[in-house]
Amino acid sequence: MASLTHRHLGLRGPSPAAGAGWAARTILTTAVLVATSAFAADTLDPNALKRLVHQDCGSCHGLSLKGGLGPDLRAETLDHYDPEVLTGVILDGIPDTAMPPWRPLISEEEAEWIARYLLDTEAR
Ligand code: HEC
Repeated sequence: MASLTHRHLGLRGPSPAAGAGWAARTILTTAVLVATSAFAADTLDPNALKRLVHQDCGSCHGLSLKGGLGPDLRAETLDHYDPEVLTGVILDGIPDTAMPPWRPLISEEEAEWIARYLLDTEAR
């Protein structure tokens, strides 16, 4: 065990602190790139949009979208919504509530994709 630890430390090179800083910067850069690709104007990136739905929408609506601060967003619960109306709720939010408008961050096409994704019982 002692020799294992020794070898492990040896691999980290002369300056462990510099290594940690590099790792933090790499993680940060990756996060920025992911965010940028989710919000890029013309091409839809379904994986990035799914991440947005589960992480950003999920921060209020629950990671599995079953409700939290915001209500349940499962397809069964939203099936009374027309896709166009749902797209409008996503783009403009619900005034006087914590549901924010997403228009500054995503395109109309992305909002429509999210609306259809939320309404699709097979999608998740
Ligand atoms: C800051 C918290 C917050 C975030 C982030 C958020 N919401 Fe909401 N959302 C709410 C709240 C609170 C409500 C309920 C508003 C009300 O009282 O009518 C709501 C309501 C909704 C509704 C209406 C539900 C219904 O049954 O009528 C939809 C649809 C919705 N949100 C979708 C989304 C989507 C999609 C995202 C991500 C793009 C998102 N929300 C992100 C807080 C949030």
